[in-house]
Amino acid sequence: MVLYSLLTLLALAGLGSSAADHAEALSKCPGYRAANIKATANGLSADLHIAGPRCNAYGKDLDDLRLQVDVETPSRIHVKIYDAAEHVYQVPESVFPRPGTAHPSTGFKEAALGFNYTEDPFSFQITRTENSEVLFDSSAAGLVFEDQYLRMRTHLPTNANIYGFGEHSDSFRLKTEGHTITIWNADVPSLPLNANLYGSHPNYVEHRVTGSHGVFLLNSNGMDIKLDKEKTRRYLEYNIIGGVFDFYFMAGPTPIDVAKQYAEIAGLPVTVPYSGLGFHNCRWGYQDVFDVAEVVYNYSKAEIPLETMWIDIDYMEGRAIFSLDPERFPLDKMRELVAHLHANKQKFVLMVDPAVAAKNYPPFQRGVEKDIFLLNSTDQTFHGVVWPGLAAFPDWFSPDAQDYWTSEFIKFFSPEKGVDIDFLWIDMNEPSNFCEFPCLDPVAAAKGYPPPAPPVRAPPRALPGWPCAFQPAGTNCKRLDSEHRLSVPEEAGVVHNAQLTPVNAQTAGTVATSLSKWYGLSGRKLISPPYSIKNTWGPLPQKSINTSLTHKNGLTLYDTHNLYGTMMSAASRQAMLARRPTKRPLVITRSTFAGAGSHVSHWLGDNDSTWFHYLLSIRGMMQFNAIFQISMVGSDVCGFNGGVTEELCARWAMLGAFQPFYRNHNAENEKAQEFYRWKSVTEAARKAIDIRYRLLDYFYTAMMQQSRDGTPAINPVFYLYPQDNKTFGLEQQFFWGPSVLVAPVTRPGATSVDVYLPKDLFYDFYTHERIIGQGRSIKKTGQTITDIPLFLRGGVIVPLRVKSAMTTADLREQDFELLVPVGKNGTAKGRLYLDDGESLHPNATSEIEFEYRHRNRKLVARGTFGYRTTVKLARVTLLGVPSGSTKNGSSVTIINQPLTESFTINL
Ligand code: NOJ
Repeated sequence: MVLYSLLTLLALAGLGSSAADHAEALSKCPGYRAANIKATANGLSADLHIAGPRCNAYGKDLDDLRLQVDVETPSRIHVKIYDAAEHVYQVPESVFPRPGTAHPSTGFKEAALGFNYTEDPFSFQITRTENSEVLFDSSAAGLVFEDQYLRMRTHLPTNANIYGFGEHSDSFRLKTEGHTITIWNADVPSLPLNANLYGSHPNYVEHRVTGSHGVFLLNSNGMDIKLDKEKTRRYLEYNIIGGVFDFYFMAGPTPIDVAKQYAEIAGLPVTVPYSGLGFHNCRWGYQDVFDVAEVVYNYSKAEIPLETMWIDIDYMEGRAIFSLDPERFPLDKMRELVAHLHANKQKFVLMVDPAVAAKNYPPFQRGVEKDIFLLNSTDQTFHGVVWPGLAAFPDWFSPDAQDYWTSEFIKFFSPEKGVDIDFLWIDMNEPSNFCEFPCLDPVAAAKGYPPPAPPVRAPPRALPGWPCAFQPAGTNCKRLDSEHRLSVPEEAGVVHNAQLTPVNAQTAGTVATSLSKWYGLSGRKLISPPYSIKNTWGPLPQKSINTSLTHKNGLTLYDTHNLYGTMMSAASRQAMLARRPTKRPLVITRSTFAGAGSHVSHWLGDNDSTWFHYLLSIRGMMQFNAIFQISMVGSDVCGFNGGVTEELCARWAMLGAFQPFYRNHNAENEKAQEFYRWKSVTEAARKAIDIRYRLLDYFYTAMMQQSRDGTPAINPVFYLYPQDNKTFGLEQQFFWGPSVLVAPVTRPGATSVDVYLPKDLFYDFYTHERIIGQGRSIKKTGQTITDIPLFLRGGVIVPLRVKSAMTTADLREQDFELLVPVGKNGTAKGRLYLDDGESLHPNATSEIEFEYRHRNRKLVARGTFGYRTTVKLARVTLLGVPSGSTKNGSSVTIINQPLTESFTINL
């Protein structure tokens, strides 16, 4: 033990080879020579042999590699360079199913991208076929492929517009000089700049006025991506501590095309329930179930629509998952809380962490019995320290992990006997571990965890309308009818253990991989590899779990660390589906890997209550929605760490309303920040939620479209104006869906904001004023803290509800209105998607396309009308067509048209 730690510390202190030794060795790397080049059905293959004496810069050079190039679709080329023996670790297909070749006969002739290569030393170029433009050029530096270090470099144009690589909080358009992005999942509070954060997304979009393209490297090992220049030439360089080069090049040519092409590889984002788009409230530190009830009550008194109430780790006994604090959050009261929420058409969420308290309680014992925990080198349960203190971590590759997780969910979240949650929150899954590396004495490190629980109290005051369980003794209250309270909703959804849905290898992400290949080379330094990535916390296992641990299937955490959160996500989605097989789960996770969007949604983690972090929420949202294909994303509204000011919370309540996932969340011990705490914030929230809800179907339509074909529901401005170079760096305004331009006030004390309007027609959302965008900024003044500037894009029809409601269930009863902002060419088009809002596979949907032509003043609605609804199209408002009778150039036509068949209206 002692010897081990000394060696480790020596290695960490860099007492071995010096940086200069490594650099010197690297400069002598011989590169590879291509041989045996053959045409294949979709591309070519070749052998790559080391072209000179090994340099062993950061490990051992591999002598023999294979190159495989496949044109998988006309817009995608897959280039893979891997060890000929196929021993080097590759991301398991169970976690990231490969897209494969769509058309067996697609080849270079059909491809929008070209692949050129040089044999000796081997390098390759990806070109755009149409104009021969070089998009990626690996000749920028020699190829290095070692057991613990891979390097590839491509040239970049000067002033390259690069977006993506994550998760980070750096500028949306990345700096391309002196900038390193490290990819290694880490629990890093306050989202510092230049730091690796919770997720791993090794993909980027490069945008040029001649076209956008995308590059995805399917590799889950830690890496540094360097964006810099040598002499005058810019480059992008991958420095990776393992795995293989598994590149997917996407042709675009528009940024939206790249997003869709990436979804073909990483998977389409999951569909989210309509109600999931409602407003959520959470905080860490609710003292007891009465505190929670008080918050729900206060929201309704303040007439702020609260769709979903969340509880953090506070509900647990000793912070152990799958347990309830019997005094502060007792089962009977929790069940009454949920019954009350459900009776009011509201929803409920609890948090689950991956770490299971290593103590004498059934969920831990069952985990040990099923052998689902990660073990240390002596085959004992590996212990770390998380909220409950000493804790064990599920090994998602264990054959029984899914079964264990699902059965714990079924038991604990049982609608009949447990706590019936509607959606799920999963956290700490980087995985996070408080035991400082090398964590030799986790028992000592666990001292102080869990902290003492808050005092137990009786209901502090009467809550009119609430069940007796929430009222002080002697209060007159109505007892909840126990039949109602304990009844199981008549849903096909509820299943029992024996009927569990079989785990699907394609989607579950938890099936053990065969180890006949890709198991990872032996003899590697799994704790402190020769090349140190710039991990914020230093050593790889710091604040996480030991990277030398081995999964049940033989893979090491060194290789799979970045997959942990995504595997937990997939397992949790399956567990939620097992509870309700027919309903769309909404699972919000902190840690993600590429492709996680096909299982779950994401919130942006522990931000601060600052103006900078308020704006950061836009960067993060654009990255995850428009680049990483995790469509449902949002920040902790009003900020997590640090007390928020009234002004900032009001502004954030409004900005958050135009992000997909809208949740107020706050850290333990911080000043309370529920929206009703201030008059102005109450007003701001009511107004913003009113607009969000009226527009909810417009946004739902965009989200469902993204789940269908990858079209982003959130558009960075350049996605819609790719030719306008003034839009390329914009990150303080964005499009919510295809039409609504959101441009929040950005500074404290300000009542105005500069809004960039591309050369196009826009309309003020509130006044319907027509504004001709000139390709420059306009100043929007008079924006009090309960205002947020919104504009509609000419040419895009926006369906909205005539009236908002306190819950999304009631909202669905409201009639529709159409806003028709006539575009530059005198037309406008739009869409409305309707379904029941919750079925995993809805059997009745409507997809209505609207088209307006000013030439004949006709509005045509056509499409499919399978979803039966009594809700009507009540009126149409035409914008940009001034006439005697109109106010601000808009005219309203009342129609009361059913939405059950095609129609044409003369306006
Ligand atoms: C860390 C999460 O990021 C935060 O949102 C949560 O409140 C705490 N864990 C406590 O569970």
